[in-house]
Amino acid sequence: MSNEDECEIMNYLVIGASGLVGYEFYRQKKGKKGWHFTYNTNKMDDFVHLDAGDQAEVDAVFSEIKPEVVIFPAAMPNVNKCETEPKIAEELNLGILRNVLEAMKKHGGKKIVFFSTDYLFDGEDGPYSEEAKVNPLNEYGRIKLKCEEAIKQSGLGHIIIRTTGIFGWEKNRKNFLYRVLDNLSQGKQLELPDDQYATPVYVKDLASATMKLIEMNKNGIYNVCGPDFLNRVELANLFADGFDLDKTLISGKKTSEFQNVAPRPLRCGLKIDKVTALGIRMMRIKEALVDMKKNKEKDDAYPEPG
Ligand SMILES: NC(=O)c1ccc[n+]([C@@H]2O[C@H](COP(=O)([O-])OP(=O)(O)OC[C@H]3O[C@@H](n4cnc5c(N)ncnc54)[C@H](OP(=O)(O)O)[C@@H]3O)[C@@H](O)[C@H]2O)c1
Repeated sequence: MSNEDECEIMNYLVIGASGLVGYEFYRQKKGKKGWHFTYNTNKMDDFVHLDAGDQAEVDAVFSEIKPEVVIFPAAMPNVNKCETEPKIAEELNLGILRNVLEAMKKHGGKKIVFFSTDYLFDGEDGPYSEEAKVNPLNEYGRIKLKCEEAIKQSGLGHIIIRTTGIFGWEKNRKNFLYRVLDNLSQGKQLELPDDQYATPVYVKDLASATMKLIEMNKNGIYNVCGPDFLNRVELANLFADGFDLDKTLISGKKTSEFQNVAPRPLRCGLKIDKVTALGIRMMRIKEALVDMKKNKEKDDAYPEPG
């Protein structure tokens, strides 16, 4: 029996499948036996409604589906909102996670797959390995750290995926790629921080690598992101090149010159030696852009940029 077959006899629940990361699992697994997907406010056909903030609804969905593996990209990941409303943000991130962990314990859940961030780190000397010392600068990072702790203490099997700068086709058009493509295709100037470094990842590659870790029955913390370490201006230039747009519209300035609501770590990003050693190869940005162009032709669910 292949790993894929073994996975298919289990029940999987993707909570937050209407978002950037969650939808990629839907694209890759829709129609497969045992796979279930939820939305909260952005209604999607074939998805189950679930507000994970409502413990009764969580219990009802878990008692019906009885998922062994829960893939949990659900979050309120707006870094600025986390900073200005930390109590609410904690409820909308940690609170919903706790409800799901409770339901998993009651209804036979075995493993949770959670998405964390490089904002756990202070950005003094990234990219960071899984063992590096955490020191979040903002509320988003602090809340994600509490989420990681809650998962470790739950006693459930878990894969904590730490990732950063996710880009790709997205129904809600909110990832950084759209900002670049929309501005440049409309001939607008784009001023970006040239001192914020990370290791951005293509959403399709992130979901595929996560699936491989699940199929390998891994447990623990894994960095999953791209191999390119670069700043926002360099990234925007690659996007412009990839989509034949005018990169002279892009300019850079220091993070400290922007009005930032939340402090941002500067030299961040993540090292991927641990997943690479397992034979998981992550795409470079240029390769990802070629793949994006190919996939878009096949999938009209995503709007044209611009
Ligand atoms: N995007 C990045 O660059 C990045 C970087 C590092 C880490 N991460 C982490 O990766 C994960 C996925 O990020 P993303 O960009 O895919 O987020 P996203 O696009 O904002 O999607 C969030 C998903 O969570 C769902 N959700 C929110 N509140 C919920 C609730 N109370 N109950 C059930 N579902 C709820 C949303 O449903 P509706 O839309 O239907 O309301 C949506 O499907 C997050 O944990 C994020 O912190 C993201």
